[in-house]
Amino acid sequence: MPWYRKDLLDIESLSAEEIKTVLDTARAFKAVGERAIKKVPALRGKTVVNLFIEPSTRTRISFELAAHRLSADVINFTAEASSLRKGETLRDTARNLEALNADIIIIRHSCAGAPHFLARFLKASIINAGDGAHEHPTQALLDMFTIWEKKGRIEGLNVTILGDILYSRVARSNIWALLKLGANVTLCGPATLVPREFEKIGCRITYNLEEAIAQADIINLLRIQHERQRKTMFPSLGEYTALYGLNRERLAKTKPDALLMHPGPINRGVEMDSQTADCERSVILEQVTNGLAVRMAVLFLVNGGQPQEIAAT
Ligand code: CP
Repeated sequence: MPWYRKDLLDIESLSAEEIKTVLDTARAFKAVGERAIKKVPALRGKTVVNLFIEPSTRTRISFELAAHRLSADVINFTAEASSLRKGETLRDTARNLEALNADIIIIRHSCAGAPHFLARFLKASIINAGDGAHEHPTQALLDMFTIWEKKGRIEGLNVTILGDILYSRVARSNIWALLKLGANVTLCGPATLVPREFEKIGCRITYNLEEAIAQADIINLLRIQHERQRKTMFPSLGEYTALYGLNRERLAKTKPDALLMHPGPINRGVEMDSQTADCERSVILEQVTNGLAVRMAVLFLVNGGQPQEIAAT
């Protein structure tokens, strides 16, 4: 299916076909990454700005490398060393970047809706790299890509998302993508962090870990988002781990081919122990690897590329 969007702001507004277009495009770019020469000229002469106003390791580096692989010029904006510290607004900052001919602005911001706000008045393409507790679309796309690659399908799979759902943008984007692609989604965690509202859009909710993971094909663990929680949501981290932490003993009660995912960063010893994080069923680092191909695909598509053109790049 052709791609018509200038921006990638969220998964909620994408159709299943659009998600599949990104995944197909990422597949082609993953093949490019396996060639001797991994760089293609698709974004030659274009300027990509990484506007990260919240910390990031994986997403920022992955977007930077993806832009380099596409031959774009890349600017990494450092919020601490910028005039944001002197009170300049996000709108003025972004308009100045556009005045310097930025073609694509990748934004991470602690406020939900910041990418949508920029997209309303900038001609540059905007990519959401995580906005508060709202969405993290490229994380969900790389998660879908990893599931598809490992399982050969997404439709009909049982996917359990475990942990802090309430404050997680990764959870929201994954839920939208999984439901649109026909997976069965179960959410599990402390009742304070797993709101019943998600049942209305088609998720199953349980507060019992064993029940949540018994039939899962995929278990996606989430970090407790302390930085976004405004009050204490459970008595202690120790109690959270005792009730919801994944370990060898609990893993032994899951399907033998169930896979473990985590968007990172991992809090080892909280949502899962180290042995589990590094076990043979963990695809956590493969998610990171796939993030590169997915982000190349997103940069290519928002810049006006079409999936069928990749073979010619
Ligand atoms: N998964 C993810 O968004 O990681 P970073 O915060 O390191 O980018």
